Amino acid sequence: MPKNDGQRLRVGVLGAGPVAQAAHFESCTKARNADLSAICDVAEDLRARMAVTHGVTKTYADYRHMLADPDIDAVIVATADAFHVNASIRALEAGKHVLCEKPVGLTVEAVEELRQAVLKSGKIFQVGHMKRFDAGLQSAKAFIETEMGDLVALKAWYCDSTHRYAMTDAVQPLIVASAKSRRPEADPKADLRRYYMLAHGCHLIDTARYLAGELAAIRARLSERAGIRCWFVEVEFSNGALGHLDLTVAVRMDWHEGFQIYGKNGSIIGKTYNPWYFKTSDVDIFREADGTTYRVLGADGHFYRRQLESFADVILNGEPMTGATIEDGLASVRAMVAIARSVESGKRVALADVCGGV
Ligand SMILES: NC(=O)c1ccc[n+]([C@@H]2O[C@H](COP(=O)([O-])OP(=O)(O)OC[C@H]3O[C@@H](n4cnc5c(N)ncnc54)[C@H](O)[C@@H]3O)[C@@H](O)[C@H]2O)c1
Repeated sequence: MPKNDGQRLRVGVLGAGPVAQAAHFESCTKARNADLSAICDVAEDLRARMAVTHGVTKTYADYRHMLADPDIDAVIVATADAFHVNASIRALEAGKHVLCEKPVGLTVEAVEELRQAVLKSGKIFQVGHMKRFDAGLQSAKAFIETEMGDLVALKAWYCDSTHRYAMTDAVQPLIVASAKSRRPEADPKADLRRYYMLAHGCHLIDTARYLAGELAAIRARLSERAGIRCWFVEVEFSNGALGHLDLTVAVRMDWHEGFQIYGKNGSIIGKTYNPWYFKTSDVDIFREADGTTYRVLGADGHFYRRQLESFADVILNGEPMTGATIEDGLASVRAMVAIARSVESGKRVALADVCGGV
């Protein structure tokens, strides 16, 4: 068991499902400043197998027991979306810092409640919008903040591919499933419109907000033809920039994700890969000043490990938070709700006015 010398974050992971297996366990074991101290899952077969695979000596069936463990500093909440808010509040109340998978919650009200719990706890709370730890996106953000001047417009797209499982199966570790896993009462995939928005839309929205700032209002249209769900979303950013978001699931071609930004002193074009390739986005930054395009290599494309290391740096060293905060998570949920309402009404919807769920 790693000693708590204040230099390394002792992490307990709640949930040993696919995302923990493909991202979080490895992130904890490879992190320069964190360790995988415990795994909690109701499914005993997953616990036993993951403990051996990742060299963990402590496993918990009961979340309460992991939260009562004084040798755990922080919890990664890697459960189904429906459990995020409750699991996060309980961890904060137990005095743990929390890195919670996205989307942070399903309704505006539930996330508001979590926000109150975060404020009351004084603990660090980060949402797992791991694309913020893609060195390509980070290079775009740095250029926007230091040199680009007025951001006039952003277009961003996130189009899942019909071939995505062939891609991910080839590169992910073997994902072990269990019949004993705890699942939400209502099947999240029963309503695919909602499921795609929650699973994928929140990434697209967070990328848009990370690069171009707050979304004030949107107007969305949805096409459901040929088994393809395609949302085109017209965005008004608070800073006056124009935006267009395209969420399409699934395109009949390769994974297609990226963005274009037009600014006063330059432009940016980004191409993002399926995250499981752990490959930094190709982000071309054109500087008007010297008429030259720059691209960061970003040799380390492990966004999930990088987000954990940053989370640990905030806790251990008081470094600035660069991950998504509870406010970012809430804004993302508001945007998803606004898109759903706008699709229903055909009208422009201000994010500040929405309530309820996606
Ligand atoms: N950031 C990304 O790129 C990314 C990618 C995929 C999924 N995700 C997110 O990760 C989350 C988890 O996805 P998944 O597919 O691994 O989920 P899953 O539901 O398949 O697995 C979660 C596991 O948590 C366990 N669990 C749930 N509640 C528990 C409790 N109270 N006590 C003990 N164990 C409990 C379940 O038994 C299950 O084994 C989702 O929110 C999803 O949106 C993020």
